[in-house]
Amino acid sequence: MSKIDAAGTYSLGNHKVKRMGYGAMQLAGPGVFGPPKDRDAALAVLREAVASGVNHIDTSDFYGPHVTNQIIREALAPYPGDLVIVTKISAKRGTDGSWMPAFSREELTQAVHDNLRNLGLDVLDVVNLRSMLGIHGPVEGSLEAPLTVLADLQHQGLVRHIGLSNVTAKQIADGRKICEIVCIQNAYNLAHRADDALIDELARDGTAYVPFFPLGGFTPLQSSTLSEVAARLGTTPLQVALAWLLHRAPNILLIPGTGSVAHLRENLAAAELVLPDDALKELDNVAKIAAA
Ligand SMILES: NC(=O)c1ccc[n+]([C@@H]2O[C@H](COP(=O)([O-])OP(=O)(O)OC[C@H]3O[C@@H](n4cnc5c(N)ncnc54)[C@H](OP(=O)(O)O)[C@@H]3O)[C@@H](O)[C@H]2O)c1
Repeated sequence: MSKIDAAGTYSLGNHKVKRMGYGAMQLAGPGVFGPPKDRDAALAVLREAVASGVNHIDTSDFYGPHVTNQIIREALAPYPGDLVIVTKISAKRGTDGSWMPAFSREELTQAVHDNLRNLGLDVLDVVNLRSMLGIHGPVEGSLEAPLTVLADLQHQGLVRHIGLSNVTAKQIADGRKICEIVCIQNAYNLAHRADDALIDELARDGTAYVPFFPLGGFTPLQSSTLSEVAARLGTTPLQVALAWLLHRAPNILLIPGTGSVAHLRENLAAAELVLPDDALKELDNVAKIAAA
């Protein structure tokens, strides 16, 4: 039994994954573009994650582009039987590293094939359709056309499960008329809690919610409450932030991102951190202060 087992498991399609996973976006170069500064370090992070029991890795072929998936393959193939690699499609990168929508049938189909080739897989476990209607947050609008393409690729046997990312509750409900949706991946953390109601709704129907930016994203969370709670418990502020997410709802699966083995170990150790009631109350207030 590994330490991260303390956080339990949750269903992701027909897989049961550990709730403490790993997000691979930080393995590409600066700005998620080009190769990492230290490829060996990137390989070491992935190998350490899996050796520590992680069986849920989040990626995309537009990280790099291609680079992150190629590093995952080099580090981990042949893959352990229980490893679930979740990818996402619908964006492409400009030559300057910019992020652009890639929503056409041709682009989505190409993206699935790029993921298969670069990961070295015959079938993708889970593919999230990432809405690019808004780059920085969910924006209402129809996802029917791209989701229908992804459902077609699922029928062809190239994709096992489908999820949605950066979406609203209405887009999820509309999407469910097209295909089964096994997970939602939106921005959420201690200080950014727009999805509070959605998380509870998804928990009721057994759908996994996978917060991206669980540590705050490119600029990790900083809050005096986090620091005070961490000091009292003899842990670190970011471990407290992760433990709070694990406590927040049973359907939350964590994918904290890091390019550092030391940070990975620190993040995985949060699986064992139990937050006392008084700390939980204080942490709940951080969102209210952030929203004020
Ligand atoms: N669906 C989407 O649109 C979307 C968008 C963004 C991300 N994602 C996914 O979500 C995953 C998580 O998001 P994220 O990686 O952007 O953000 P994050 O997990 O909130 O934070 C990552 C940042 O925190 C730092 N960090 C990590 N652990 C640390 C520690 N213990 N101490 C100090 N700093 C630490 C990392 O730097 P170091 O590398 O130096 O540790 C990096 O700067 C990504 O890997 C990606 O798979 C999805």
